[in-house]
Amino acid sequence: KRERVTMAFKRTLIVTLFSIFVVAASIGVGVVIGWFSRPSQKEEVPTEDSSIQQKLMDIMNKENIKSNLKHLTSKPHIAGRENDEIELVNYIENEWKTNGLDNVVSYPYDVLLSYPKQGDSNYVAIVAPDGSESNISQRKEAVIDPVQDDPDVVDPFNAYSAAGQPEADLVYVNYGTIDDFIYLNRTLSISTQNRICIARYGRIFRGDKAKHAQQYGCIGLILYSDPANYCVPGKGVYPDSWYLPPTGAQRGNLKLERGDPRTINYPSIATAWLQDVNKTSLPKIPVTPIGYIDAVKYLDKMSGPEVPDGWAGGLNITYRIGPGFVGSYANSKMKMSVKTANEVKTIKNVMGFIRGSEEPDRYVIFGNHRDAWIFGATDPSSGTSILMEMVRGYSEMVKQGWRPRRTLVFCSWGAEEYGLIGSTEWVEEFQKQLLFRAVAYINVDVAVSASYVFKSRGVYSLRKLLFDVTKSVPNPDQDEVAAGRATVYDTWLARDPSDSTDPIYGSVPYFGTLGSGSDYTMFLQSVGVPALDMSYTYDYTLGVSSYPLYHTVYETFDMVTKFVDTDFSYHLAMARIWAEAGRRLADSIILPIDCRSYAVYLDENYESVMAEFGDRMRNHDIDTDKLKEVIDLFSKAANEIYNKAAGLDLTNSFLVRGYNDQLMQLERAFLDQNPLPGRPVYRHYITAPSQHNNYGNAGFPGLVDSMFDIDADPDQDGRWDEVKRQYSILIFHILSAASTLRNPV
Ligand SMILES: *[C@@H]1O[C@H](CO)[C@@H](O)[C@H](O)[C@H]1NC(C)=O
Ligand SMILES: *[C@@H]1O[C@H](CO)[C@@H](O)[C@H](O)[C@H]1NC(C)=O
Ligand SMILES: *[C@@H]1O[C@H](CO)[C@@H](O)[C@H](O)[C@H]1NC(C)=O
Ligand SMILES: *[C@@H]1O[C@H](CO)[C@@H](O)[C@H](O)[C@H]1NC(C)=O
Ligand SMILES: [Zn+2]
Repeated sequence: KRERVTMAFKRTLIVTLFSIFVVAASIGVGVVIGWFSRPSQKEEVPTEDSSIQQKLMDIMNKENIKSNLKHLTSKPHIAGRENDEIELVNYIENEWKTNGLDNVVSYPYDVLLSYPKQGDSNYVAIVAPDGSESNISQRKEAVIDPVQDDPDVVDPFNAYSAAGQPEADLVYVNYGTIDDFIYLNRTLSISTQNRICIARYGRIFRGDKAKHAQQYGCIGLILYSDPANYCVPGKGVYPDSWYLPPTGAQRGNLKLERGDPRTINYPSIATAWLQDVNKTSLPKIPVTPIGYIDAVKYLDKMSGPEVPDGWAGGLNITYRIGPGFVGSYANSKMKMSVKTANEVKTIKNVMGFIRGSEEPDRYVIFGNHRDAWIFGATDPSSGTSILMEMVRGYSEMVKQGWRPRRTLVFCSWGAEEYGLIGSTEWVEEFQKQLLFRAVAYINVDVAVSASYVFKSRGVYSLRKLLFDVTKSVPNPDQDEVAAGRATVYDTWLARDPSDSTDPIYGSVPYFGTLGSGSDYTMFLQSVGVPALDMSYTYDYTLGVSSYPLYHTVYETFDMVTKFVDTDFSYHLAMARIWAEAGRRLADSIILPIDCRSYAVYLDENYESVMAEFGDRMRNHDIDTDKLKEVIDLFSKAANEIYNKAAGLDLTNSFLVRGYNDQLMQLERAFLDQNPLPGRPVYRHYITAPSQHNNYGNAGFPGLVDSMFDIDADPDQDGRWDEVKRQYSILIFHILSAASTLRNPV
């Protein structure tokens, strides 16, 4: 068996060497053509104007951001409805046209959305044997500020839930992770079959909770926000602080695929073939969210054993698993009434462009979504408020005679809250262009949820860029400045350091990896565009699962000015970081993409896979050293191309372009023509959203997924054969990446 793997490896190597030869031959032809068409006159050595950065930072201001936010959050603006798709779309188009962008275009798509039933929104209750309902949950969150009393506020619901009125015994499933369900099933032997489950929010994407509940036979799922995850004892709740009040309920979608579920991998344009909705992977069970004011009424009546360690939340009750209720409720059941229904609606992306002077066919893309569950003062309008100011700033620069080397693209995405619909449809529609021309994508969703620390995640090759940019942006935190930390970077490093020393950069701040929490997903996963995501956020040691008012009616403009960013200085810092990161990508002669850092990422993943699975892999005749060898080979190629930059003749635009293209294409080398097994839209075999938590990240996803819970599978031979297949695919991609960085001549 060991022989087979070695043979497979040799075959891969031969194929790779052949590909290198083909690439070499084509590059050779390219070089010859380039040589003949080379301009005879010697060009000036291009230089980068360092004063531009300062101008761009100074041109944006806090007052504009504040008034943008005020306007954007003056009404609820959910996807698919007039306030967002007409009013805000018109507003953004008009602003950008007035700013003088070179082009402003809207891209509409008719897509499948989902809403609760108007006038009969969802609730849950206890139902007695005679059918009478009690302890009925609130259909609406309490109005705390009069602006929240608005007919356009959509009541708490989970988008794409099935409709239904199940009645059954209740089972508490903790966070509803795959491990929680496995624990219930194998360790506690408590069945969730034909029962209603209640899970607390946190840890993983809510759509995965629904997937697991369905997989384990639940006929309904209630999601609630436990105070342990959204409050801090003694700190109060909104409106006294930014923690979650008792009726606050988190809205959110449950969709596992990205984009319109009827058109997986293709755009929802007029000619699109539409999959029957019943055949999509949307949930088949009713799911709805409630606040802890209601959850406690059901949880404190539960029978069955006490929960194991780590499962109890912060309510003042004894948490029990169930199934069912105790005492006078022993014969009662849990009931859900969910009338959420799907609806086809038109959503729109607004795109603005500033043409690049030297390389107009290379795109640096900035994106933020526009739609909000309600007012969206943090999610996403904090981001939109700075997007608008950044576009104004860039437009001013252009009016003053500056123009970026490469084209800037600004995107206001529609229907992100419904599972990244606007960005996914657009990436699908323009995938051919993006695959060959997009330099990078920088996402800002929630720009500022708190003022504690800057946070970023993305592909490792863009880490250095962000470290450098944040070192040049003044710290909005005046206490930190007084403590000697003058830049955003300084506080980032002090408050959230990486727990290991980076082999290239030394001690650095923590930089995360991308799952599928926002619009960067399809850029990276389907067209291999290097991507970044960033925000200003809270102190993780508080232990909250997200900022507490996330997706509630309480995310209002006044809440932001009271508890998040009183004078908008953090918003301004974010605008500066975003603008400058994009400007460097658009303006630098050599792209600020550090391939060496990708080798670090591969190494980190190698180590963690070996720690968890190394022994078992070797026991199944997998030569784990081979993976390490190809990573080292990649690392060598990355160092070589990195070192070549210094000697590059910057007057030769052909050589510069060729060099940059190699940097740009690195990410594409990790894409496979075949998507990851069971994940039809994800094609990146080095980094992908995790299989059991769409928000999280998995390194080497094909390989890691193939080994999940493998010991419990009766089909050991079949499973290990798949592991070997995935192992060879992974090696192939790393070799491919190394070859894209090389010029054999
Ligand atoms: C639950 O319903 C019962 C029966 O109507 C009622 O007596 C009790 O007060 C309710 N409990 C709560 C917390 O609302
Ligand atoms: C555990 O899961 C298996 C497979 O889904 C199922 O057949 C079995 O009935 C479950 N056991 C319990 C106690 O629910
Ligand atoms: C889809 O399923 C629903 C519920 O089972 C059913 O009412 C509807 O007719 C189905 N639609 C199609 C097109 O089969
Ligand atoms: C928790 O509940 C117990 C029993 O109902 C009560 O005596 C105690 O005061 C409660 N503690 C808090 C902090 O509310
Ligand atoms: Zn968002």
